[in-house]
Amino acid sequence: MQYIYIITMPQKRKKIIKKKPSRKNKATTDKNILDEIIRVDHAGEYGATRIYDGQIAIFGKNSKIGKTIQHMADQEQEHIEKFNELIIEKNVRPTALLPLWNVAGFALGAGTALMGEKAAMACTVAVEKVIGEHYREQQNLLEDDEKELKKTIAKFEKDELEHHDIGLEHDAENAIGYKAMTKVIEIGCKTAIAISKKI
Ligand SMILES: [Fe+2]
Ligand SMILES: [Fe+2]
Repeated sequence: MQYIYIITMPQKRKKIIKKKPSRKNKATTDKNILDEIIRVDHAGEYGATRIYDGQIAIFGKNSKIGKTIQHMADQEQEHIEKFNELIIEKNVRPTALLPLWNVAGFALGAGTALMGEKAAMACTVAVEKVIGEHYREQQNLLEDDEKELKKTIAKFEKDELEHHDIGLEHDAENAIGYKAMTKVIEIGCKTAIAISKKI
C-alpha cells in the first residue's frame, strides 16, 4: 500500500481586521434634541426682539443710544426671521409661552431702560452672555446632518457676543447694582431657556 504524504505549508492565520465604522453613515442629530434647539432658539430670539423693542420705546429711535440699540435690534430681527423659517421647515412646535416672552421681554427692556442707559446696557450684557454661551453649547449637539444649522448658530453666536461687547463698551458695568442685576437677569434667561425647550 502506498502512502502519499502531502506536505502542507502551515496555514497563515487569517488576520482578523476590525472594520472601522464606515464614514459613509453620517452621524445624525437626535430629532428630540433638534426640536428643542429650534424651539428654544426661536423663543429666545423672539424674546430678544421684545427686549430691544422695550428699550427703544423708552429711549426713542433717534437718540444716540437708541441708534446703537436699533443696530442690535436689526440683527435680532434677522435671527428671528431665520428661526421663523426653520420652525416651519423642520416641523417644530413653537413654545406655548410666546405670549409670556412677548410681555416679559418688553417689560425687561423697558424696565431697565427706565433705570437709565447703563442699566439698559447691563441688561444686554447679561442676556447676550447667556445666549452666546447657549449657542456655543448647541453647536456641540449638532451632527454632520445639520451642518447648515450649525453654521447659522455659529454666525448668530458671533452677533450675540458683539451685542455683549457693545453693552460693555457703553459702560454697563457702571450701572447701579450691576452685579446683582446681571445675576438676576442671567438666572431669568437660563430659566426661560430651560422652560422653552420643553413647553
Ligand atoms: Fe439674536
Ligand atoms: Fe443679541
